[in-house]
Amino acid sequence: MGHTGEASFIPAAIVKPTSDLKPTHSAPSIPADSRGQGHYMLQEIQQQPEVIHTCLTTYLGESAACFLPPVLMALRDRLPVPLQEIHIIASGTSRHAGLVAQFWFEQLAGIPTRIRSGSAFLEAPFPLTPHTLTIGVTQSGETADTLQALALDQQRRAGRSPELQACLVGITNHANSSLAQQVDVLLPTLAGLEVGVAATKTFTSQLVVFYLVALMLAEQRLERDRFTPALTALQQLPTQVQQVLQQAPAIQSLATQWRDASHCILLGRGINRAIALEGALKLKETTYLHAEGYAAGEFMHGPIALLDERVPVIAIAPAGKTQAALLTNVQKAKSHGAPVIGIVTRDNANATERLFDTQIVLPAIDEILSPLLTVIPLQLLAYYIAVLRGLNVDRPRNITKTLV
Ligand code: F6R
Repeated sequence: MGHTGEASFIPAAIVKPTSDLKPTHSAPSIPADSRGQGHYMLQEIQQQPEVIHTCLTTYLGESAACFLPPVLMALRDRLPVPLQEIHIIASGTSRHAGLVAQFWFEQLAGIPTRIRSGSAFLEAPFPLTPHTLTIGVTQSGETADTLQALALDQQRRAGRSPELQACLVGITNHANSSLAQQVDVLLPTLAGLEVGVAATKTFTSQLVVFYLVALMLAEQRLERDRFTPALTALQQLPTQVQQVLQQAPAIQSLATQWRDASHCILLGRGINRAIALEGALKLKETTYLHAEGYAAGEFMHGPIALLDERVPVIAIAPAGKTQAALLTNVQKAKSHGAPVIGIVTRDNANATERLFDTQIVLPAIDEILSPLLTVIPLQLLAYYIAVLRGLNVDRPRNITKTLV
């Protein structure tokens, strides 16, 4: 039966607006302004271990002993039955979080998932499908095209048969935003205020929330011997992100090397294609460098003509299923003269050392969770290049950010 969307249908813990779900730890504090030595963007990048910890402990409880977070168990009980499809609507960086989630929903939970930006959905909505969960993702909760797309989905489903009824979930960093008023169920990302225009900590916290939803949806499908380790792996993230942040000097020196580059290509495969897109967006908006993210397989079909010795290629290459094919693509890029930079994990770093001109080594992590680590060096690279170029890293030109 379809979800009616009535508030009474929703468990108290997550009924809109989700003011009941508060961090068990205080949100990270942010100084009053970014003048002087620091920048909000750097602080917000550095806050990610704490933000992820806050998000995990708030949803899972301090011990994380439970098989499923109670709040998500309650959400599960309210989903359309059977859940046949998930639609994600989001823009910019939030859309990239949605692309990662699409991978999790399909590959872990086996649920067909479509994703479209708010503006594209308004132009061409997904076909009206039954038993569908629609997730709107917006860190601000105020992005007009995302909100309008969700409203359109709600309107076109109103008055239809039960299986076509809307079930709207919102993921946002602002529990009192317009999004909160619009959706049936709100999942806050609890990242604390993000002042820097470039979304960083709100992206990783969106990923954490999405991953918890994916585990909830996968619960029936995953054997306990895969499910429990997945939760355990989540608990390691704050420490692992901290370890990635310790790579800052290496990333700073990479930034110094490439501060005057005009173009940059980012390649990823599988789940890290989304991080190639996100890394390119971070570079574009903060440094004004022309960066493009590609699925590495597609890059071979034409865009490879862009390469020469002035165009660095950053390959997001953690150990895992997609690594061998990606390294073949990197070899090809290198053979065309492109300098190649690898974001690798410790468990494959020795094997890739001779291929890459420079490599940033991250802690070993399951490929499926790796976006939470692989994005961090790209955020830092964008930050350091922007600073070296003397740009206003917290307020890039031509962009505004809704701070609610
Ligand atoms: C990129 C960035 C933008 C936003 C986009 C959507 O760093 O900040 O691309 O992600 O404008 O914003 P929200 O998530 O508030 O809907």
